[in-house]
Formats: sequence, structure tokens, C-alpha cells
Amino acid sequence: MDHNILPLITCPRHRETALTVERIDRAVDGIIETGRLRCPQCATGYPISAGILDLLGQQWPGSIAQFVNVLPPAAWAYERTWRPLALSMLSGEQFPLERELALITELAGVDRGGLMIDVGCSNGLYARALEQARRRSGADGLVVGIDLSLPMLQEARQRARREDLRISFIRASAQALPFATGTANVLVMGGSLNEIGDIQAALAEWRRLLAPRGRGVMMSLAAASNPSGRAFQQFLGIGGLQFPTLDELNQHFARAGLHLRAQWQYGIVVFSVVQ
Ligand SMILES: C[S@@+](CC[C@H](N)C(=O)[O-])C[C@H]1O[C@@H](n2cnc3c(N)ncnc32)[C@H](O)[C@@H]1O
Repeated sequence: MDHNILPLITCPRHRETALTVERIDRAVDGIIETGRLRCPQCATGYPISAGILDLLGQQWPGSIAQFVNVLPPAAWAYERTWRPLALSMLSGEQFPLERELALITELAGVDRGGLMIDVGCSNGLYARALEQARRRSGADGLVVGIDLSLPMLQEARQRARREDLRISFIRASAQALPFATGTANVLVMGGSLNEIGDIQAALAEWRRLLAPRGRGVMMSLAAASNPSGRAFQQFLGIGGLQFPTLDELNQHFARAGLHLRAQWQYGIVVFSVVQ
């Protein structure tokens, strides 16, 4: 947890109230490893442990999909197995990570700097790409990765540290992002909308957080067009996965007050840019 991010972090229950530092037990080179923040309004305390701020405490996953993501073997395997292959398999064309990450960072306009948040970051793939692109551009900025799953965030932190990338990781819900209104220049999300639970509440948070010239870039999976694909997606729905059609996705954006600026679809993979 980069100490520079502290003034920007708010209470998930009082989202316009900045958390204050209760104590810092261990910090190395401006990175807080262990400590505790507190909400001055409701007095709730939030621990920082192994460099990760936990705003959720004891909270049960809301679906089977979310439960799978809190299992340590799933967190360990995610970027080592499925993730590099995912878009090539789901788009029906060669879609290596380099192509996806170049697209995300370019669409996000990382060279504008500021606060950049990867929502539902898992192992931190987009967060790392944002921070690498920010460094290359020379822009000032802070990158944050948010996820429900502590094991995912632990893996994300290890990966970021191995690459010497300064990224802050926070355990929080996409439906209650711990930042004040209008503070984010960049929001990204890679595939998490499909398992996020309340889609509308998560997108309302994007609307709330986006700064006047902020930009949201989302990769999500749409409803399959063929019957076998649809049947498989219906089966996955038992575990809490949702696959909105393109129309439904765009209605979600509009209802949240997000303006769709651009959109591309490759197979069931959809990239959307919203403001
Ligand atoms: C498909 S994975 C994300 C993959 C990652 N964004 C990437 O591009 O590699 C979905 C992630 O979203 C997280 N997640 C699901 N629902 C969430 C919610 N309501 N709030 C925050 N994170 C959530 C899960 O824990 C999981 O790590």
C-alpha cells in the first residue's frame, strides 16, 4: 500500500469521507506493510496486512463463482493457466495478452496520469499494464487494484513486486469503491462484470468515480449467439455468472449514466469505452 494513496481512500460505508491513519506498524520505502486505517465518521477500523488494505473483513462470497475465486489454488492458477489463453479461445482469433493489454492501456489514455483503478483485478494483470504504461509515458499517477478475494490480491501483489511496480491493492467490493466522487481518471475491468453480482450497482460506482474527463475501459463477455454456447452460459449462470447481450450491456451503461464512446466485439469478447 503506497502511502501516497492514503489521502484518496475513503470509507466504503461513507464514500465521501477519507480514512485516517490509526497506526502504521511497518513501512518500507513509503510502502505500508502493516497498519490500520479508521473512518472518522463511523469509527470502523480497517487493517493493512502484508501490504493489502482489507475493507471487507468477514464477508461471504455471494456466488459459487466468487467462492471459487477465494480458493488459494484458483488464485495461484489463474494467470498461470486460463488467463493467457482466454481471449484467443473466446474470441475465435489470435488474441495474445500483448494485444489485449496494448488495447486496454491505449484506450484508457494512461498518459493522462491520475488515479487509475483496476476493478476486479484478480492477479493484477490490467493494473500492472497500467503502471508499466504510466511509467513509460512519464505521467504522474497512482494505480490501484481492487478485488473481493484476498488470495487473488496476494498473488497480484507478489507479481507486482517481482516486476518492481508500485501498485496498491485493496480488498473491497466493486459495488462500494473506496474513493470519493469524481476522483478517478481511469477505470478498467477485465472480465469481472460477468461475475460481479449486482451489475447496475457496480456501474453506478463507475459513474460516481469517473472524473469529468475520466475514462472507463471494460472487457466483458457477451451472450453467445449459437444455441450450444447459450446453453453452456445458462449452465454457468447457476454459479452466478451473467452474460448480457450487447443491447443489455449498453442498457446497463445508459441506466448508470455512462456514455458509450466506442465498442468492439470479437466473438463473445466485448471491449467498451465509457465516460
Ligand atoms: C474474471 S476475474 C478477473 C480477471 C482480471 N480482471 C484479469 O483481467 O485478469 C473476476 C475477478 O473479479 C472478482 N470479483 C467478483 N465480484 C466482485 C465484486 N463484486 N467486487 C470486487 N471484485 C469482484 C473476483 O474475485 C475475481 O478475482
